[in-house]
Amino acid sequence: MRPISRRNALLLGGLGVAATAAGGTGLVWTLTGQGNPGTPSVAGGASFSQLPEERSSAGLLQVRLTAAPGPVQLAGREVDALSYNGSIPGPTLRLSPGDTLKVTLANNLAQATNLHLHGMHVSPEGNGDNVFIHVEPGRLFDYEYRLPRDHPPGVYWYHPHVHGTVADQIFAGLFGAIIVEDPGPGGAGTERLLVVSDTALDGLGSISPVSDMERMMGREGGLVLVNGQLNPRFTARPGEQERWRILNACVSRYLRLRLDGQQLQLLGVDSTRGQDPEEIQELVLAPGNRADLLVTTRSGESVLRASRYDRGMMAGMMGRGPGRPMPQEPVPQQDLGATALATLSVSGEPAAPPAARQPQAEPADLRQSTVAAHRQLIMDTGMGMGMAGGMMRFTINGREFDADRTDTSVAAGSVEEWTIINTSAMDHPFHLHVWPMQVIDNNGRQPDAAMWRDVVNVPANGRVTVRVAFDRFRGRSVYHCHILDHEDLGMMGVIEVR
Ligand code: C2O
Ligand code: CU
Ligand code: CU
Repeated sequence: MRPISRRNALLLGGLGVAATAAGGTGLVWTLTGQGNPGTPSVAGGASFSQLPEERSSAGLLQVRLTAAPGPVQLAGREVDALSYNGSIPGPTLRLSPGDTLKVTLANNLAQATNLHLHGMHVSPEGNGDNVFIHVEPGRLFDYEYRLPRDHPPGVYWYHPHVHGTVADQIFAGLFGAIIVEDPGPGGAGTERLLVVSDTALDGLGSISPVSDMERMMGREGGLVLVNGQLNPRFTARPGEQERWRILNACVSRYLRLRLDGQQLQLLGVDSTRGQDPEEIQELVLAPGNRADLLVTTRSGESVLRASRYDRGMMAGMMGRGPGRPMPQEPVPQQDLGATALATLSVSGEPAAPPAARQPQAEPADLRQSTVAAHRQLIMDTGMGMGMAGGMMRFTINGREFDADRTDTSVAAGSVEEWTIINTSAMDHPFHLHVWPMQVIDNNGRQPDAAMWRDVVNVPANGRVTVRVAFDRFRGRSVYHCHILDHEDLGMMGVIEVR
């Protein structure tokens, strides 16, 4: 194994170096990536490259994923990062409902890691989607996942889940997409997978360390990439109907997306599939969310842009307790304008009209179900160790994560209604493993169609009510804030279904 750089040693150790958390004088924000004058320029505008892919056959996909530090192509240059099988993102896993996925995870990192299949409806027990497993450095682990025959199609993803290092490992390059194919014959048009991630590089081409302040805010790297590329370009003919799958793999960044000049229809978000694709202008994806889109192309050049999403700031952050006034200075944002993620050029002879699409299955709906239990989960940020340099506490129902404690026990087979309350001044995207959530009330608004999410944003000082059918699987798993710095700081709870 190649010796790791000092930067990576720090990164791998999970140390909060370059601590810039301010004393009494106000906020200090360390700009990273593009905002850092020491950062060498990064190449943009290369043509869009497809990711390496592994596809199941005869009901089985068997892959080996090796998590390792080392040189890897990112943003058009060679950087010192972490990757699965030497690429960022890692290989795309293509599966069909009913398949078995076997993954041998090889850990060549200097710290523990593991594997989580985000959004997938698979067992959390044993060597399944079990985040309590830790694979130590130098070790292998064989995971096995069985997808139900009615597993919803869509785009999902995999990433590490060892509490305390999740954000660091994803920010450094450990993530990849999973596609569960539509049942029946798919549309013939071009399909594109856009895995959006952000990171920050230092002047030596290593992943920048982050400060305690960035962790508390939820780090946003200045480099926002699509499939590891900076503003890649692709082309199409007018009148084509393309299928775009977009995954927000950023640790903390919300993506407010537009593709002006093209017609966009939303087929689904996370595991939801609407009956009729809805025409949209803008799409907000919280960290961890995914979208399935139809893009009907029109002549011209269009830029997929992510514009700023105001996710609030942290109440009490600088030693301010409840009841004390809000600090006057706003937290500086890294991106004030819109970030160009990718560029689509449409020209040439019009394409033949697209083939009719298979109608999508009607989603399940729990709104008329009998609710076995109502719960409240309160996401809060509070004072930690005191004013100067102290860390905030990130809690659910007043407690920080403890893998040995079960916070929520649920009877298998029941439907529960959870109200997730955010008492803090910044948004928290709430995520539950294994069992998808149907949004019943989104901060006072009730969706008129069945809306399912694996990550649902709970706005600052807002609340969201969801229903969950705890069917099919038993076992222990977790729910948490998908600003993964917050999860690493403790905003996670354990659920057991038995
Ligand atoms: Cu995307 Cu608990 O994970
Ligand atoms: Cu998950
Ligand atoms: Cu959060």
